[in-house]
Amino acid sequence: MTSDREPVGVIGAGWVGLVTAACFADLGHEVHCRDIVPEKVESLARGEVPIYEPGLAELLASGGERLHFTTDMAEVLSSARLLFCCVDTPPTYSGDADLSRVESVLADLQGSRDHALVMKSTVPVGTGRWIRRHTPELGYVSNPEFLKEGTAVEDFMRPDRVVIGSDDGAAGFSDRVAALYEPLDAPIVRTDVASAEMIKLASNAFLATKISFINEIANVSEELGADVTEVARGMGLDERIGPQFLRAGIGYGGSCFPKDVSALKQLAGNSGYHFQLLTAVIEVNELQKRRTVGKLQKHLGSLVGKEIALLGVAFKPDTDDVREATSLVLAARLQSEGANVRVYDPVAAERSRELLGGATVAGSALEALDRADGAVLVTEWPEFRDLDWAGEVRQRMANPLIVDGRNFLDASIMRDAGFTYEGVGR
Ligand code: UDX
Repeated sequence: MTSDREPVGVIGAGWVGLVTAACFADLGHEVHCRDIVPEKVESLARGEVPIYEPGLAELLASGGERLHFTTDMAEVLSSARLLFCCVDTPPTYSGDADLSRVESVLADLQGSRDHALVMKSTVPVGTGRWIRRHTPELGYVSNPEFLKEGTAVEDFMRPDRVVIGSDDGAAGFSDRVAALYEPLDAPIVRTDVASAEMIKLASNAFLATKISFINEIANVSEELGADVTEVARGMGLDERIGPQFLRAGIGYGGSCFPKDVSALKQLAGNSGYHFQLLTAVIEVNELQKRRTVGKLQKHLGSLVGKEIALLGVAFKPDTDDVREATSLVLAARLQSEGANVRVYDPVAAERSRELLGGATVAGSALEALDRADGAVLVTEWPEFRDLDWAGEVRQRMANPLIVDGRNFLDASIMRDAGFTYEGVGR
């Protein structure tokens, strides 16, 4: 079967599933995408896009007739042999991955022969082996995703690498999966299933380690008088280090890093190995959030009754995702210190009202900053750089204190405008 004719099944029309479906359709494949939520399937079939991801709506629209949405697994099974599993694997309370959705997909696939489950969802190392033992009639290929929110379509179409893992007996299926990616002209890493699963977790854990490392360099730089943005620039030019993921800040968040770092640490622990480095990476990330509160206290003393503005709720700009967002932790901690918290985010504040405790949701950045005793820049939305800091903001704030959690504003301009400016590591 030639790759351009190979129909593709996608199970789960969430963020990963929709990007995968839209991109394979754009590459010329018939795509049959199944989700268990009827309302979602109906709205997708009407051309509505339930999530914000740049370029996705356009691809879904241009995919047109090649894209089919259904709740019916039988329809997918009769149309496609390669079934990309794109369901959620959220963290449990203990930090393990919750595989209940993967298990229910497997239950739906009981008895299927001639098909392969291609795992895009992030799963613990060993999951593929376990699935093969329980459903030996099903082919199994590991094909982890490395998509970033905000650039997911671009990441899919121009990946640094494609990882494809298979074990004995599934080589035919993994060849077919590899053929799907051939037009992308990216390096394809063919390996065994367990190694493919580990590549995903280790990549995210390494990137999180890079962030916690630069955050600690930032903290030491504050003590020793160095500027971490200069340090990162100088370090990043060393090709062995590279410039990416060296932005110091108030810690990483999102749906992947916190979950995957905990999952790998937990997985190691379950196997009897204490992963010391990852324990520290997580601790440093938590500490970084606490330091932000400390910086406000350094200037304001007790926070009881103080008006604090939080600029940004989303875990990073260009997304409305607030999963594991630092803003939520900060809002809770500031309120527990007695502060009155006002938050603003261009897209994410309203929908996270319930997660923000008693914090007030403001309709604009200026409204959040009005009469504030201090402000924290939490998410580097471009509009925060364009505020009239020296004029209107300065006049409106009761006390011109800004803690720039992303080193996003120009420190000297802010100080010249009369602000007490605290960055991270500068
Ligand atoms: C990440 C991985 O990059 C992606 O490959 C994986 O598939 C899913 O997880 P994502 O969560 O979308 O993607 O966001 P990313 O842009 O990687 O940022 C993650 C977090 O790290 C954000 O909170 C961001 O603010 C923070 N970060 C990132 C830093 O604090 N400093 C940096 O230098 C880079």
